[in-house]
Amino acid sequence: MSDPRTVYLADYRPFSHIVDRVELSFRLDPRATRVAARLHLRPNPEARGRHHLWLDGEELRLVSVRLDGALLDLTPEENGLSIPAELLPEAPFVLETLVEISPEANTALEGLYMSRGMYCTQCEAQGFRKITYYPDRPDVMAPFKVRIESDLPVLLSNGNPVATGEGWAEWDDPWPKPAYLFALVAGDLVAHHAPFTTASGRAVDLGIWVRPGDQDRCAYAMDSLIRSMRWDEEVYGREYDLDVFNIVAVDDFNMGAMENKGLNIFNSRYVLASPETATDEDFARIEAIIAHEYFHNWTGNRITCRDWFQLCLKEGLTVFRDQQFSGDMRSAAVKRIEDVLTLRARQFREDQGPLAHPVRPESFVEINNFYTATVYEKGAEVIGMLKRLVGDDGYARALDLYFARHDGQAATIEDWLKVFEDATGRDLAQFKRWYSQAGTPRLKVSDDWADGTYTLHLEQVNPPTPGQDHKDPKVIPVAVGLLNPNGDEVVPTTVLELTEAKQSFRFEGLAAKPVPSILRGFSAPVVLEREVGAGERAFLLAHDTDPFNKWEAGRALAKDVLGRMVRDGGEPGSDWLEALAQVAFDESLDPAFRALALRLPSDDDMAQTLQGAGMVPDPDAIWAVRRRAGEALARRLAPGLPGLMDRLADKGPFTPDAKAAGRRALRVVALQILSKLDGGAAARQVFAAANNMTEEVGALAALLDIGQGEAEVARFAGRWAGDANVMDKWFALQIALATPDWAAAVTERLTSHPAFDWKNPNRFRAVIGALSGNHAGFHAASGAGYRLVADWLIKLDPLNPQTAARMSTAFETWPRYDAGRQARVKGELQRILGTPGLSRDLSEMAGRMLAAG
Ligand code: TRP
Ligand code: ZN
Repeated sequence: MSDPRTVYLADYRPFSHIVDRVELSFRLDPRATRVAARLHLRPNPEARGRHHLWLDGEELRLVSVRLDGALLDLTPEENGLSIPAELLPEAPFVLETLVEISPEANTALEGLYMSRGMYCTQCEAQGFRKITYYPDRPDVMAPFKVRIESDLPVLLSNGNPVATGEGWAEWDDPWPKPAYLFALVAGDLVAHHAPFTTASGRAVDLGIWVRPGDQDRCAYAMDSLIRSMRWDEEVYGREYDLDVFNIVAVDDFNMGAMENKGLNIFNSRYVLASPETATDEDFARIEAIIAHEYFHNWTGNRITCRDWFQLCLKEGLTVFRDQQFSGDMRSAAVKRIEDVLTLRARQFREDQGPLAHPVRPESFVEINNFYTATVYEKGAEVIGMLKRLVGDDGYARALDLYFARHDGQAATIEDWLKVFEDATGRDLAQFKRWYSQAGTPRLKVSDDWADGTYTLHLEQVNPPTPGQDHKDPKVIPVAVGLLNPNGDEVVPTTVLELTEAKQSFRFEGLAAKPVPSILRGFSAPVVLEREVGAGERAFLLAHDTDPFNKWEAGRALAKDVLGRMVRDGGEPGSDWLEALAQVAFDESLDPAFRALALRLPSDDDMAQTLQGAGMVPDPDAIWAVRRRAGEALARRLAPGLPGLMDRLADKGPFTPDAKAAGRRALRVVALQILSKLDGGAAARQVFAAANNMTEEVGALAALLDIGQGEAEVARFAGRWAGDANVMDKWFALQIALATPDWAAAVTERLTSHPAFDWKNPNRFRAVIGALSGNHAGFHAASGAGYRLVADWLIKLDPLNPQTAARMSTAFETWPRYDAGRQARVKGELQRILGTPGLSRDLSEMAGRMLAAG
């Protein structure tokens, strides 16, 4: 990377000074908010020698600077303020700055901004520098006191409330924190409150703050929060540490949510829920994100990151923890399958393209571009492997040591691995490659059988990724079980540790050649390559005792079938249809599992799979084959589907729990399959009768999928026009289910809809993101999909570079496709890159994607 703005991990140096405490005072005004900061500073002995003091600051109007009370005459630079060493005392001193900022003009949603009349902040990763001059780096931690002055009725910040009066409030956060965890909210808000008592008896006032009118849609988020707090006490021994814990829902937000100390700020779509407006998927996501942000209080806040290269230290671990939590609250098996689906759809995709990077990157231009599936999801997988390798006890001891040793610190991946080494005595030098080497390993497996001995030959291939041609073998935990031909398990799950490029593992004393179940629970984030016939896959789908691999067998079978149809034409074989019929109607299986098993691999997943097999995927062919396979499945299952749907219908009042959600999931899948044959009759009925959003939107999708539903689309819009989060579904669904030739046109039409507020990130994602996610539509050979997405990224970039850059990953798969499509994508990326004034965010992304060719 040759960009002069590149930052390198190897360049890390401790900060010149220590910040002992911070006092901030805000006088809020939409156009001229005044921020007064008092920083109590002293030289950092670790930095050695005399240094100037650098304070980051962007888009600030400096009014004054005082050092120990005396005015300084300083001219700020474009991105900060430098105070020369000769002005700085060697003893502790106080630096006071006064700046003016304009929250109303802040469309980037970083720093202090306004969302529908309310003030809010987003500081991770580097937004605090748009609020005041400060060493905006995570290894500078300090306690903050905050005073807010405003006429608005609710004034919130981090920590505990200290005092409040007419037009002001004061907050005190005793826990030292980096600036990225600072938060402030002011607005006309109402709270849904609940009490919580921690294990050691601390009373905590929990509050979820929303716009008046939304308070009756907070109960599920509150329930999720209480369960998260209890779970972290029970499973990790971690208690909450302030008198209040507040969550605020805002409508304009770049990501999902943010773990600011004691004051989490959420995208409103991950807080507000009622049966009428939220799908079961929404409920599950709310539960997971509430937990995720709460868990950051220990993994992220009490122990933070030394620098942004260590991002996975908090994100990988916190994702791992929220996945464990959801597994405990719901079905661990179903949760694991869903997590692997996401991992493959987002992280494997990233790893196989030009944006591949290690879990701990070593350089970046814009850190916002590294909040990726690799850092988050692969980061979590790496922790899962570590846990598998050291065992549950070893993991528990290592985490206790981590919290004991690093509480209050800004830590590194080296610190993290060291606690595992110290707690378990295991050498993790080779394991560390998971943090430094990008790319998805391929695990090639073959076997042989002779004289009662069964041998598995494992080979790992670590393909090159941008900037990393050579890779060394990693430690890969391969969980394996063996089944007898009659379906009994003869060797229960054992973990083989593959540490070399090639290794063989022997199982002795077997009576018959077993059927292996490999990579149980998806024990490592690798692509498994093994020649397996349809018969063996169907056998595992029927008999595997490992629920993940049971599902995986069906998945692999479906991919084989679709792949063969793409290559050779023809219709799906009856073995696959019979195997799926078995699962669909097997009442002994969890409905949620059956729903997952009946879902066909997505078009993008098929493209990725074909790419992995060395083919050039044809988006139109994949789309057509997937439809044909779906219709064949419908013909096989149709006779049983109405009965299945009746049995699955909700009997009592709506509940959002996993069991009820699983029944609805299967009912909706059944409806969508049935709709391929009945002209939409059943879907129209379900739509009309639905008392919950899962079925309402599921029925609408079933209709759109068969080119129907015009009346229902209109009715839906009439009913939900006042609810932005629900209307996002309306926008997205019409585009996601448009046929390849029409997707760009439908998108274009919806971008001129009066409710298309493109400056709102949720709405932008609902529309432009839906087109990027419509595989055949986005990749239409005409280039219309590419052009439209590029147009909108160019339009959004000057206002909101973070979201524009994030959404540009739509193009990351371009090297997969044929020369014609490649040329069109490259043309669009060059057009983006050539746009005058392009942001650092989007230019880094477009540049990295183009560098691949
Ligand atoms: N730390 C947040 C999380 O994982 C995510 C985050 C990073 C974020 N940068 C952000 C959220 C910018 C909103 C805006 O939960
Ligand atoms: Zn996080």
